[in-house]
Amino acid sequence: MTDTSRIFLSAPHMSGRERELVTEVFDSNFVAPAGPMIDRFEKAFCKTTGHRAAAALSSGTGAMDIALRLLDVKPGDDIWVADLTFVGGVSPITYHGANPVFLDVSPGTWTLDPVLLANELEKAAKAGKLPKVVIPVDLYGQSCDLDEIVQLCDLYEIPVVVDSAEAMGARYKDRHAGKGAKFAIYSFNGNKIITTSGGGMLASDDEEMIARARYLSQQARQPVAHYEHTEIGYNYRMPSLCAAVGVGQLEVLEDRVARRREIFSAYAEAFLSNAGVSMMPEASYGTCNRWLSVMMLDPAETKVTPSHICQAAEARNIECRPVWKPMRHQPVFKHERFFATGVSDRLFSTGVCLPSGSAMGEYEVQRVIAEVSAVLAGP
Ligand SMILES: Cc1ncc(COP(=O)(O)O)c(C=O)c1O
Repeated sequence: MTDTSRIFLSAPHMSGRERELVTEVFDSNFVAPAGPMIDRFEKAFCKTTGHRAAAALSSGTGAMDIALRLLDVKPGDDIWVADLTFVGGVSPITYHGANPVFLDVSPGTWTLDPVLLANELEKAAKAGKLPKVVIPVDLYGQSCDLDEIVQLCDLYEIPVVVDSAEAMGARYKDRHAGKGAKFAIYSFNGNKIITTSGGGMLASDDEEMIARARYLSQQARQPVAHYEHTEIGYNYRMPSLCAAVGVGQLEVLEDRVARRREIFSAYAEAFLSNAGVSMMPEASYGTCNRWLSVMMLDPAETKVTPSHICQAAEARNIECRPVWKPMRHQPVFKHERFFATGVSDRLFSTGVCLPSGSAMGEYEVQRVIAEVSAVLAGP
């Protein structure tokens, strides 16, 4: 019998160990956003990524919110952010009353364009309107050119918060993606390469700032018994049960990256012989975790479009998705400023994300290949 069950874009992939660790939390009765499992997750995370400190939080969005708070972002500040990204890293800018300004990405990496950034920073400095923070994004698990971006921002003393939500297990030069900025944020949402069901991490080499992030994430409680507050905080701490899942997932991160890269290679091998088809490039300075495998369709060479692929796949119970819609085209951001070169527009109109979950077996990968190949072959 043929299996036609749904193939998701990126489904959770448990190793089995998570269940034991969750049981440990039950046994300890720390069924709360407190307890030793959270500490254990933060330590294991730091060991994996090389950050000196990290605060486990309830989401990547919350991690970005706290990062901006720690950097004293205020109403009216400009925050520069990559145009091609998911909204979770951008919404927190507005929580602080600041203005997102969108910058286009490089064609070779799909991440914040350092040449554009250099030019626009120079102009902004002359106009006396420099951003308070710059947020590059490690899109689809590909690190941005972080050293280059940090160096440029250092010239103007602008802190960088890298949105590494999609980049667990990815490498930049000889280190983990996200390491080297003032702050990095990560997501453990259910669709990410490793998950805690929902969760995020704020990481930095600044241990004091991370201690403050933990305090802010727990309602900014002063260390007294009667609940005293001298400033407003958040309820953003990660629950212990989620941290337990995270500890188990970190143990298999390398395997998960390897499997996603294998799936990407299988797609590349199957599709690249079709005219007008290419795959997301990999930057020479790093190793993409291939969180999502993305295929591009050049309209000059093929009549097949991303929506043809998505519709045909959906009809066979296979989930595909267009490349993220650039932020400057989101109705909610239609009044915001941007610096565009046309790259994110082109990627949005020509790119399609293919099922990439590491739990997919060979049968599922071949099912996707067969369906997509049939569409590429034409009617
Ligand atoms: C690039 C990017 N930034 C931020 C987020 C927000 O993370 P979370 O869903 O954990 O809030 C996500 C993922 O959802 C993301 O992909």
